[in-house]
Amino acid sequence: MKLKSHLNNVIQDAFLKAGIEHAPLSVSEATKPEFGDYQFNGAMALSKKLGKNPREIAQNIIDHLDLTGILAKAEIAGPGFINLWLNPLWIATQCHTALSDKRLGVSTRENPIKVVVDYSGPNMAKQMHVGHLRSTIIGDTLANLLTFLGDEVIRQNHIGDWGTQFGMLIAYLEMKDEDGSVSLKDLEQFYKDAKGEFDANADFADKAREYVVKIQSGDAHCLTLWQKFIDISLGHCEEVYEKLGVNLTREDVRAESFYNEELPKVIESLAEKGTLQESNGAQCVFLEGDEIPVIVQKGDGGYLYATTDLAALRYRAQVLGAKRISYVVDARQAGHFKQVFRVAKEAGFVPEDVKLEHIGFGTMMDKSGKPFKTRDGGTVKLIDLLDEAVIKARETINNKEDYSPEQIETLAKIIGIGAVKYADLSINRESNYIFNWDKMLSFEGNTSLYMQYGYARIQSIFRKFDANVSGEIIIGDALEHRLATMLLRFEDILERAAIDASPNQITNYLYDLVTLFMRFYEQNPMLKEGVDEQTKMSRLQLADLTAKTIKQGLDILGIQVVDKL
Ligand code: ARG
Repeated sequence: MKLKSHLNNVIQDAFLKAGIEHAPLSVSEATKPEFGDYQFNGAMALSKKLGKNPREIAQNIIDHLDLTGILAKAEIAGPGFINLWLNPLWIATQCHTALSDKRLGVSTRENPIKVVVDYSGPNMAKQMHVGHLRSTIIGDTLANLLTFLGDEVIRQNHIGDWGTQFGMLIAYLEMKDEDGSVSLKDLEQFYKDAKGEFDANADFADKAREYVVKIQSGDAHCLTLWQKFIDISLGHCEEVYEKLGVNLTREDVRAESFYNEELPKVIESLAEKGTLQESNGAQCVFLEGDEIPVIVQKGDGGYLYATTDLAALRYRAQVLGAKRISYVVDARQAGHFKQVFRVAKEAGFVPEDVKLEHIGFGTMMDKSGKPFKTRDGGTVKLIDLLDEAVIKARETINNKEDYSPEQIETLAKIIGIGAVKYADLSINRESNYIFNWDKMLSFEGNTSLYMQYGYARIQSIFRKFDANVSGEIIIGDALEHRLATMLLRFEDILERAAIDASPNQITNYLYDLVTLFMRFYEQNPMLKEGVDEQTKMSRLQLADLTAKTIKQGLDILGIQVVDKL
């Protein structure tokens, strides 16, 4: 249900009937219950333009408002606000319809577009660390959300699998593999060992350098070793994706190396367009107003991160046909993306009408406000963090006697992983955030457990009431009115979150929804003696729609629910 656009249409009609020309202005949610459900403040904005008193304009609009459908009441407030009350009968019918729809009344886009979401992008020489967590789950949420709304989403995992360090790594892999003692289980360690050998052993260092040249020139033996290394390394990432419940597969991988053959062509195109300039032997693009140029080829002929991204942009716009390309990457890369987007557009790699956006995010900090590290100052491996989350979740539920050990295990995974993901997604993505186990595993506050608890609580109502729910929804009091209105806002929230690429708009909504439901549930009993049948049925339906909305919302965030907690 596009609630806001329905309301805007009604107001538009009133404008037409009142003969007022107006700018396209929009309603907003009322900030206090006494202001109604929605507010319109366009009269103030228009007063200058029309040379009229805003209250007069507001009254004119109200006089022409249709109060027989979505709206029940409209009132002038303050300097010329219009407070709007939704019609309870209309709300009830809409909720009823939403409940019988598996999309909960959320429409699918009339004009879907192709969207590329670039996320996760781990580097193969290293184990995934906590810095990759944010990209992986924010990106996955955005991809899930746009898919749900009806866009054609193409997930792209731009893994770092190319660069001089691979010469060293595969030379080391070859050396160690001979006696079978190589372990890639701990990539961080493997990298350190290879580097140690490189620094201590001149012959090995020569070989490593030789291998760099060999892989780049397509030597079959070296490429086989390199492929082996990438496969194992990617396997580690997939273990993390699996634990996280993230929808990335091998098919989504378009590694840096995928663009190798395109790189000389990118340089050629730029040269043809006359945008290349040599500076200190390197090929650069100077952008107007930018002091630092984009280097696209080094003096020795090597290509850079930016060159690969230009090739990827061209591929995504021209081969994949994307109309929106979203990069979910650390905010510290903002400068890089600003530049490559400009170069890509100016060079015509990407058509003007394609939206390019860098979805930046802040850094994860520890309790003392420093970037998150292990006790001895190392980077925290993502897989260890997730395992710890499950252990901690198990501690919080261990005292449940009515669960089998297997059930506890499943539950611990759902709760632990959900807690880590929710804590991350509920922060304004551009902020740095403080990682705090106690806070994220709490039943109270804006946490996944609170949402999962809300859901499970509703399921327990339905376990007690084991019969068919039928009949109408009746909006009997102010709380019912607010809950029902909140439920109908779901699509507006999802739409806004998709435009801004802000998962925290969904978590904020879920938090408000569950909080409101808990109050509703306390004050509006369902299964108590003395509640008449019609009221009971109506409240049960509102509870059911609430549960389904929580579940759908969490599903988009990639978080599971359980029937019993
Ligand atoms: N591998 C990069 C990193 O770890 C992230 C890749 C982001 N995607 C891109 N197309 N540049 O920083």
